[in-house]
Amino acid sequence: MDILAHAGACTDQDVHSLAVAVFKGEKANEGLLKDLDAIAGGAISSLIETEELTGKEGESVYLHLSGNGGKSTARRLLLLGVGEKADYGLPQVSQLGGTALRTARGKNNKSLAIVPRHDGEAAAVARAATEGAIMGSFDIDKYRTVDKEDKSIDKLVINLPGADEGAIKKGIADGTIVGESVNFTRDMANEPGAYMTPTDMADKAREIATEFGLNIDVLDEARMEQEGMGSLLSVSHGSVEPAKLIVLKYTPRDGGSDDNLLAFVGKGVTFDTGGISIKPSESMELMKYDMTGGATVLGVMRAIAQLKPSIPVLGIVPAAENMPSGSATKPGDVVVAMSGKTIEVINTDAEGRLILCDAICYAKKLGAKRIVDMATLTGAVSIALGDVNVAILGNDQPLIDQVIARGKEVGEKYWQLPLDKEYTKQIKSDIADIKNVGGRKAGTITAAAFLKEFAEDVAWAHLDIAGTAWGDEPKPYRAKGPTGIAVRTLLNMVETESKG
Ligand code: BES
Ligand code: MN
Ligand code: ZN
Repeated sequence: MDILAHAGACTDQDVHSLAVAVFKGEKANEGLLKDLDAIAGGAISSLIETEELTGKEGESVYLHLSGNGGKSTARRLLLLGVGEKADYGLPQVSQLGGTALRTARGKNNKSLAIVPRHDGEAAAVARAATEGAIMGSFDIDKYRTVDKEDKSIDKLVINLPGADEGAIKKGIADGTIVGESVNFTRDMANEPGAYMTPTDMADKAREIATEFGLNIDVLDEARMEQEGMGSLLSVSHGSVEPAKLIVLKYTPRDGGSDDNLLAFVGKGVTFDTGGISIKPSESMELMKYDMTGGATVLGVMRAIAQLKPSIPVLGIVPAAENMPSGSATKPGDVVVAMSGKTIEVINTDAEGRLILCDAICYAKKLGAKRIVDMATLTGAVSIALGDVNVAILGNDQPLIDQVIARGKEVGEKYWQLPLDKEYTKQIKSDIADIKNVGGRKAGTITAAAFLKEFAEDVAWAHLDIAGTAWGDEPKPYRAKGPTGIAVRTLLNMVETESKG
């Protein structure tokens, strides 16, 4: 898809359709809608009068502009309700981009211009619209050979009448990097377990490191052994696929300073059968996405390498497959983590925390001063927060507040759960230092309480994305399936720090 900048009037471009944001309660007697109404022969004012067009969020009206006497070179008009003007922010512009792309594509349009009508900074508005349109173009039917969604928009124009064309171009360039990186994460999450083993994840990481310029180190099992990562290794023990610990580092051109080094750590369980504590078969196929945290880290690093912020960032992905077999870890086994802590494995299905704890220790060894981990860690988080909010917990309120604030700016929602020390009692073991499950109560919190034992005095925030990483239903702006949640939040965090 070619993406072009247009700073002129929206009526003078050669596109199949023109997608325009419409605000709630907006009338066609002034501004852009008035001009468009004239071209559409009064159709817009008539639709408003009959309340077929009210501007409420999610509303979409498609008009033919044929026979308008050459007043518009666009042949179709797509009016998209975006709700109250006062609530119309960049997250809504991004969704508008996705809805416009998906709707126009569904009508078999080949070219599309989007008119976001947001008065913010041109580069930021163009970036949001571009990123949203690219995310909107993603679909999960990669392996379908019949009835595949094969329509596509070949030319997309981002139209900000009166804006600086250079600023629109800059926004398109950055939005392309972000949108493609989010889709990179989603595509990895969607891959079947057989095609996305820990070795495949490491290969993907090497590809982005080479293509975009990042340092990479992949620890094999022998090196993990040397590092004393008995907890991580206990998860891959039952699998024929060896575990990998992927370490990426972005260093700014001037070298930057590692004094406040930020590390992203993502759970990369490439398939979670539960191990000996095997899961029921119902929906088990979805456990291919149990590596989404890891894919998120890779997507973020892929974008950072191109956006080139001024601060260094470490990306760490412990990747392993959780299988039952004659060599699998058994309930009751005791493993020794890199930190020396002993862990009684009560349930082999609580494997995410077992790989993350060693990865967190390794991040500290590499000098991380702040760690944000992300993981599809607990089913309990879906019970608590559904598919709307990511659960965030941690030991450092400023870091938690920072993630929440940066998420809000890009339309990704976080809700903090408490992590009082009382919860740690639930993971005390009778025979070892700790155990890997804390009983039925507060499952998302006790999982975080487990990780807290390893973060220790380093500032740390944990994101449980098990409820938000996969959308069971499609949305107008996005396909069903992997959502790419948190990629944009973490990028926004790094870029905001970079500017500040
Ligand atoms: N990968 C699962 C969590 C999960 C569940 C992710 C549903 C996405 C959708 C995790 O490894 C797991 O099995 N957690 C257990 C923990 C329990 C054994 C303490 C769970 O949530 O049931
Ligand atoms: Mn599990
Ligand atoms: Zn899991």
